[in-house]
Amino acid sequence: MLVKVEILTTADNSKTLHLPELDEQYHSKHGALTEAEHVYIKAGLQHRLVSTAYSGDLNVFELGFGTGMNAALTATYLADHPEINCNYTVIDPFILSAQQYSLFCEESWALKAPFTALHEAPWGETVAISPNFSLLKIHTTFEDFRAQKGVDLVFYDAFGPRVQAQLWESWALQKCADMMNPEGVWVSYCAKGSVRRGLQEAGLSVERLPGPPGKRELLRATKIH
Ligand SMILES: C[S@@+](CC[C@H](N)C(=O)[O-])C[C@H]1O[C@@H](n2cnc3c(N)ncnc32)[C@H](O)[C@@H]1O
Repeated sequence: MLVKVEILTTADNSKTLHLPELDEQYHSKHGALTEAEHVYIKAGLQHRLVSTAYSGDLNVFELGFGTGMNAALTATYLADHPEINCNYTVIDPFILSAQQYSLFCEESWALKAPFTALHEAPWGETVAISPNFSLLKIHTTFEDFRAQKGVDLVFYDAFGPRVQAQLWESWALQKCADMMNPEGVWVSYCAKGSVRRGLQEAGLSVERLPGPPGKRELLRATKIH
């Protein structure tokens, strides 16, 4: 993806990246950090762990490493949960340069996490970032990704349907469902009706939850069987 990337300060003072040619952001303009914590950490990670008193291996799959915010927040959260051993797999066809990601190094969320280690970890290799967080970054698109099995938690963080409609179609949602373990959870900021129906058609049980600032709802889906 050879597009221009600009830095944008969002409503909660945290930064995100803006793609002027697509008029799209990596996170919400209403608060990048607030959105990531609300959607992926509270509605996703925390829910997955608390709802079943989870312990042991937790296999997370994220679509879109981007700035590394979700990975960094997950590693930070799990630093207080040594009973969980997280294997975090993330894909992205577009790798930020050191110059681009270093803009985030002094952010509060990045300071608490092994942020630079997440970015410097080589692509295509599993790297132990902390005692209970290992990272595998795969340089590919979701279209080409050879789906893995045994995923407990999916962070679905593609650009919005206006920009990347294909990543919100039935095939993509079914691919997610097929990767998930029973009781696995899929979560995203997107609450579009067609996405909700696609998740249901993929056999998942879908909840509409209150969204972060600027968004009425988010979607969370659980694999029952
Ligand atoms: C909304 S941003 C994700 C933000 C990221 N999770 C973060 O915390 O910064 C969307 C991400 O999806 C990636 N992406 C674009 N096309 C993709 C594709 N076909 N398959 C997988 N990822 C894609 C982009 O490069 C970008 O990093």
